[in-house]
Parts: sequence; C-alpha cells; structure tokens
Amino acid sequence: MRRSSKVIFFLLLVIIWISCKKEDQQTDTDQEELNPEYYSGGSTTSFDASTSAYRRALCNLTAEGISLHTLGDGFFHQNFNPIGSSDAPGLGPLFIESSCASCHIQNGRGNLITNSLEGFLLRVSIPGSGIYGEPLGISGYGGQLQTNAIAGASPEGEVAIIWDDIPITFPDGYQVVLKQPYFSINNPYTSLPPFYLRGGRTAPPIYGAGLLDAISDETLLAIADEFDNDGDGISGKINRVWNKQENALTIGRFGWKSSNPNALQQTAEAFSQDMGITNFLFPIENCEGQSNCVGGTQEGGDISADVLNTTNYYILTLAPPAPRNLEDPNVMRGKQLFSELSCAKCHLPEITTGTHALAELSNQVIRPYTDLLLHELGAGLGDGRPDYDAGANEWRTPPLWGIGLTKIVNPNAGFLHDGRAATLEEAILWHEGEAEDSKVGYMNLSAADRAAVIAFLEAL
Ligand code: HEC
Ligand code: HEC
Repeated sequence: MRRSSKVIFFLLLVIIWISCKKEDQQTDTDQEELNPEYYSGGSTTSFDASTSAYRRALCNLTAEGISLHTLGDGFFHQNFNPIGSSDAPGLGPLFIESSCASCHIQNGRGNLITNSLEGFLLRVSIPGSGIYGEPLGISGYGGQLQTNAIAGASPEGEVAIIWDDIPITFPDGYQVVLKQPYFSINNPYTSLPPFYLRGGRTAPPIYGAGLLDAISDETLLAIADEFDNDGDGISGKINRVWNKQENALTIGRFGWKSSNPNALQQTAEAFSQDMGITNFLFPIENCEGQSNCVGGTQEGGDISADVLNTTNYYILTLAPPAPRNLEDPNVMRGKQLFSELSCAKCHLPEITTGTHALAELSNQVIRPYTDLLLHELGAGLGDGRPDYDAGANEWRTPPLWGIGLTKIVNPNAGFLHDGRAATLEEAILWHEGEAEDSKVGYMNLSAADRAAVIAFLEAL
C-alpha cells in the first residue's frame, strides 16, 4: 500500500468504528445493556443516522473484508462508458443509467415519480409466461424499456405517465389526495403490440441485502401461509424463480415481486438489463437482433467475473442502520399500534438468518420488518403483470428497517414499488387486499395515534 492509501484506509477504519457504536455508549458493558432492538442487523448494525447512513459496511467485517467492500463501493458508484473508452468500458449499446448509484441514490431508493424518473424503470411484457413461469418480453423490446443509448444506437422510447387523483377522507374529516400513475411509452422506435403489460419499478434501498440473502429457505417456508390456514386474512406466499447458477427454480428474495433468487443474480441482471453490461451470468446483450442496437455490442462479458463478484460483495456487506429514539413514548405507542393493526404480520419484526457463505451474515438475529413473502395488496397497487408465481396484485413485503432515514439520505425519494407515494402515510393508504383491515384501522385512529404510527416508522 502507498502511504496516502494507508492513511485513507486508516481514516476509513476510524469512521467505520465510530458508526459501529451508538453515540451514548462508552464501554463494552454499555453495549451489552443497550436495548437489543437497536441491533436491526445483529452484530452487523451501523449507528450512522446521517446522509451516509445507507453506505456503511457491516460492523463485524474484518479489515480484509473492508478493503474488498471499498473496492465494490467504487464499482457501484462509478459511471460506465461505451466500449473503447479507457475508463470503465462496457456500457450499452442500450441502457437506462450508466451507474448503479444513479438509480439507488446514496444506496437508498429512487425519486418520487411525480417529480422525476431518477431510479425508475418500466417493465414490459406480453400476456402469458415462459417455460419457467417468467414474463414474456415484447419482441423488439425485451422485458424492460431501454430509455438511453450510446452514440449510433437509439433508445427504445420514453416513459409517459398520466395521473388519476384519488381523494381520501378519514372518518375524522382529515383529507389526503393519492396520485395513481398509469404508464405508457412515447416515441417507440418500432411498433408496439396493441396490448401489452407494464409495470413501473423504482429502485429500492439496497443496504441489508446480505442479511436478507442469508434468511434460509426453511425459515421462509415455515413463515409462508399461502392458503391462510391460520385464518387471519393474511396469507404470505413464496415466489419460485429461475436460478441461473443452479439451473432450477428456487425461492425468490429480491425485487418488488421477489423475482430474483439471490443478490448475485440481482446484481448481474442489473448490469445487463439496466446498464447494457454483459457478464458471465448474462452473456447476451439486452438488444439482441434489434434494429436500433448498433455498435458497441460485446457478448460474453463487458465486465470480468471479478468486477461482478466484488460488486456483489459490496451489496452483501452493506449494514442496515440502527433505529433511533425507541424509548420515546410516542414511538413506543406507535410500535404497539403497529402490532395491534397487524402491520407486524407482514412486516415481521424479527427473523434469524441461517448459514451463509459469508460468516458475518450467518446466524444473526435481525429486525428487518419483512417476511420476504408475496401478499395480495389490491388493484390500486396492482400492475396487471404477473412475474413467476407473483400475481398481478401481489408484492413482496418490503423491509422497513432504515425507512425513517429515507428523506435524510434522499429528500426527493418516493415510496412503494413505483415511487408513487410522497409520504409514509400515503404508502399506508395504498394498502388494500390482505392489508385492507390494517389500513382501515389506521384511518380510524385518532390524529395523535396516527402520528405515533408514523413516529415509529420514522424511528426505524
Ligand atoms: C435504471 C435504474 C437502476 C439501475 C441502474 C440499477 N438498479 Fe438495482 N434496482 C432497480 C429497480 C427498479 C429494482 C427493483 C427491481 C424489481 O422490482 O424487480 C432494483 C433492485 C435491486 C436490488 C434488490 C433490492 C431488494 O431488496 O429487492 C439490488 C441488490 C440491486 N438493484 C442492485 C443493483 C446493482 C448492483 C446495480 C448496478 C450493477 C443496480 N442495481 C443498478 C433499479 C436500478
Ligand atoms: C398483508 C401484508 C401487509 C400488511 C398487513 C401491511 N403491509 Fe405494509 N406493505 C406490504 C407490501 C406488500 C408493501 C409493498 C407494496 C407496494 O410497493 O406496492 C408494503 C409497503 C409498505 C410501506 C412502504 C415501504 C417502501 O419501501 O416503500 C410502508 C411504510 C408500510 N408498508 C407500512 C405498513 C404499516 C404501517 C402497516 C399497518 C398499518 C402495514 N404496512 C401493513 C405488506 C403489508
């Protein structure tokens, strides 16, 4: 190591050490006495609540692990360029954004789509499904609209949105207007079928993905209740999706419909589908045989296995941030209501991870507030676009850990699968289907109790 990089590495270790301790704890004894609920990620938990809260490495990572994580941070945040460039070549010919971080803003989510489409992409398909149950792409477009292209090639089209205003009046007279988006494609480069399915998706936050990756199949099978055998009105279904490494259908964990089996495949697919960067899991350019896709194609691997694996290591080793203010009476009241309103039946407060290839992720008691299962949430959120076993109106319960820091990290962020909700309250008001009773229960609370529920979410 050169001297300057030694200094940087040392500073990094100091920052990591600071963000791995809660401010008011001085000694190891204090650490043991801290309410265990602060450890959202078990011993991986970070205590940084600043704008960089989502960019912290697992707190139990070794020094060697931290170097690899730092290298992966570079790949995740760098801009890629077309083939021929000396700096990070491989982008395109078609792509949506040129870096992972331009969608996963500061490792958090994309923007509220009433304001901007940063972090957003449009999934498209024709009705029916393929041999594994996967959606069928549109000929000439594939499964995702490519809105950007390198010089010489041309984009597939632009995302167009029209809005429906849905006024909601609470029993106590309080009013909110929800905005429902409808997506279509402007300026398509070639004809589109008269009828096609579309699903808007915003980039979700990515911290804690390693711990979610480490939740075992057995645990998920044990929580699932597809046919609601316990009769509580809430089912919880597993998605089974094509696993490219195992050449088999395995349990889905990532994406808003749990359509990806693990962090590696999710990362590899993002390189390929979102950035036009081929790799060993996705060797074929995402524009095969398309007339708009000229030049800059490179089958097999725009990036090496090393770059893919190191980026994946970065995803796996991002710590979830600790909650804050759990002793505040308002937050405590909100926590109680969160449970009384059955929010906690889907947003499961505690899970223990299984054994993972990375020892740091194994056997941790975590507080992710998700069951990683699919739930029917009603037609208002539905996109009419099934994905493997996930139905048109079914979505994976998103983790709520760290959600209270969303706007500190990105003030323009939007909630829900397509970034349509400006506030946590709007996100709750979109819940229907299996979560209808929870939503109605929330609307029937006093203003003070509603504020307590929001205060609890903000503390996570
Ligand atoms: C064009 C925007 C965009 C870019 C660029 C992008 N992503 Fe994503 N990412 C998304 C969206 C949208 C989803 C949700 C997909 C879904 O629901 O199926 C997602 C999902 C993910 C997830 C799953 C998180 C979870 O909990 O479900 C991970 C991990 C991820 N991306 C990593 C990456 C990496 C690594 C890169 C760069 C190689 C990248 N993304 C580039 C938009 C983007
Ligand atoms: C039946 C399961 C279920 C119940 C019950 C439930 N949720 Fe959800 N929740 C979901 C799913 C699934 C989504 C994702 C919906 C989407 O993006 O379209 C979600 C999304 C959210 C979001 C937005 C998360 C994000 O990342 O954008 C918040 C906040 C939230 N729920 C809070 C609550 C609260 C508070 C309650 C109780 C009043 C509750 N939920 C009850 C399943 C549930």
